[in-house]
Amino acid sequence: MNLKDIIAEIPDFPKKGILFRDISPVLRDPAALSLVVDELAKVIHPSEVDVFAGIESRGFPLACALALRYNKGMIMIRKQGKLPGVTHKVSYNIEYGTAVMEIQANALKKGQKVYICDDLLATGGTAKAAAKLVEKVGGQVSGFVFIIELTDLKGSKAIKDYKYNALVKY
Ligand code: PRP
Ligand code: ADE
Repeated sequence: MNLKDIIAEIPDFPKKGILFRDISPVLRDPAALSLVVDELAKVIHPSEVDVFAGIESRGFPLACALALRYNKGMIMIRKQGKLPGVTHKVSYNIEYGTAVMEIQANALKKGQKVYICDDLLATGGTAKAAAKLVEKVGGQVSGFVFIIELTDLKGSKAIKDYKYNALVKY
């Protein structure tokens, strides 16, 4: 099975000129979803992780699937205004704009090792902001996993201080 055959390409979404790589068909195909989780699990050693962090929104299902596989929990890194209670915020740039993300202040215990999960690495702005948030609340980032990397956008540079893996590169 080739994930590139399953990932959809939507031109001009969410803005003109962006070719949007949509993992929805991967999530709804049980064989493709298993393949993604199996392949990502090959690069994460159990000793490197106490908690999986999912980035809104398409990082959530990945983080949750991996958390179940490793018998760990998951935490959510969300767009501004969605998380209740005390939160920390970081603003960041993405391929098609700017945004603010948040984490709950009590999401982690000091020193917990976190693997951050998202569907796609583009400029790396989102991933770097997620790492900052994890560190702000006392976590230690062990690495990142993505299904897709858009290599021209050089996101790997933004997260050069961390280990990362992506299953499919464009
Ligand atoms: C997309 C994608 C990543 C981010 C990558 O999310 O799911 O989270 O962009 O871009 P970057 O590497 O340039 O930061 P989006 O902001 O579209 O949010 P969504 O998943 O909630 O739709
Ligand atoms: N996030 C940033 N760029 C993207 C793209 N081209 N497709 C899907 N998600 C994205």
